[in-house]
Amino acid sequence: MSFVSHVECTVCGQHHPWTRLTTVCERCGQMLAVRYDLPRVAASLDKDTLRGRPPGMYRFRELTPLADGEEPVTLGEGSTPLLRMPRLATHLGLRRIWAKDEGQNPTGSFKARGLGMAITRARTLGVRGFVIPSAGNAGGAAAAYGARAGLPVAVIVPRATPAGAVAEALITGARVFTIEGSIADAGKIVASVAPRVGWFDLSTLKEPYRLEGKKTMGLELAEQLDWRLPDVLLYPTGGGTGLVGIPKGFEELREIGWISGASPRIFAIQAEGCAPVVKAFKEGADVTTPWPNPTTQAAGLRVPSPFAGRQMLRILRQSGGGALAVSDKAIEDAQRLVARLEGIWTVPEAAALVAALMQMADAGDVRRDDEIVMIFTGAGIKYEPPPLPSPIDLSGSEADIVARVCAALGS
Ligand SMILES: Cc1ncc(COP(=O)(O)O)c(C=O)c1O
Repeated sequence: MSFVSHVECTVCGQHHPWTRLTTVCERCGQMLAVRYDLPRVAASLDKDTLRGRPPGMYRFRELTPLADGEEPVTLGEGSTPLLRMPRLATHLGLRRIWAKDEGQNPTGSFKARGLGMAITRARTLGVRGFVIPSAGNAGGAAAAYGARAGLPVAVIVPRATPAGAVAEALITGARVFTIEGSIADAGKIVASVAPRVGWFDLSTLKEPYRLEGKKTMGLELAEQLDWRLPDVLLYPTGGGTGLVGIPKGFEELREIGWISGASPRIFAIQAEGCAPVVKAFKEGADVTTPWPNPTTQAAGLRVPSPFAGRQMLRILRQSGGGALAVSDKAIEDAQRLVARLEGIWTVPEAAALVAALMQMADAGDVRRDDEIVMIFTGAGIKYEPPPLPSPIDLSGSEADIVARVCAALGS
């Protein structure tokens, strides 16, 4: 049974039927969101039933947009661990830090949730193929879920996209095109190509279902904290699907009566070389303006004009949070630090959160006792690593090698 009531414009409120394919609002061109019959969800689902279900994001089935009997296109996404970070906390002089490790998803990033959900719905609604502009991980995930669904995918990425994500898209059978320019330039090409080839444009937030996949991070987080919410949430912000999706999940849980109390202060973290949300937040603007010449090694943060800028800024302000940009040097240092202290080789985008948290702790923007959650959006292994020491190459007799290893280890 499905609990969706309709699809609604997040700006003008226009209702759209959810039984046919929708993209953006037919009236004002803004982003759409799925709405549920929440009293019926509350009457149909309880926490004990949920606890007994197998892992994966579809255990929240009543709060997903699946139609009656619709089988998801799945690779087992969701149910990622919420890891305590005690050594990092001590290092920063804080007490309770968690990382939701989205790198443990299929395809190595949180993009699996959104693309899995979007491709599931699009397949059901009759789509024959997909075109997607991407910073890397979304294209890789679209290609993987497209393969799983038996549908063709074309990915258009900037030339500087991490090789691992490009390889992932190629090995799963997508046609991959690299271009000079940013994801915004790729988006313009996709918008022209999709109608000409008759495939669906999977651009960030230009259809309502990707958001529902990302939302499940918020549902899981609340459950993992035993139906409380943290004090502070840090999110590496590019297009903003998670930044918009996670609080949507919290609000739905609140409406069905499963959580109460204050919502977290939400912070958008960006790179200094591409920080349109930070700039707009600091200037008190309602919308972002395009960031010229975006440059950062954190590919997923190279989004110069996010479509959902307006919605993100509203969320940041309503939550009492903020927005902060960090340098690429700080990102690299943080990436090594969190790997050394906690054993997690995370993506540069997520390492930006650690760098930002350091600044926030120094500036007193977080309190020592605050419970802080960072969304570690992907696994670093798909990216070029930060500068590291070279391994020590040894040759000679076995006895020589043993002696030199022991000397290097200090005995
Ligand atoms: C690893 C990683 N983190 C963060 C982001 C930004 O995510 P969002 O578009 O939800 O803001 C991306 C987007 O490509 C990404 O790949």
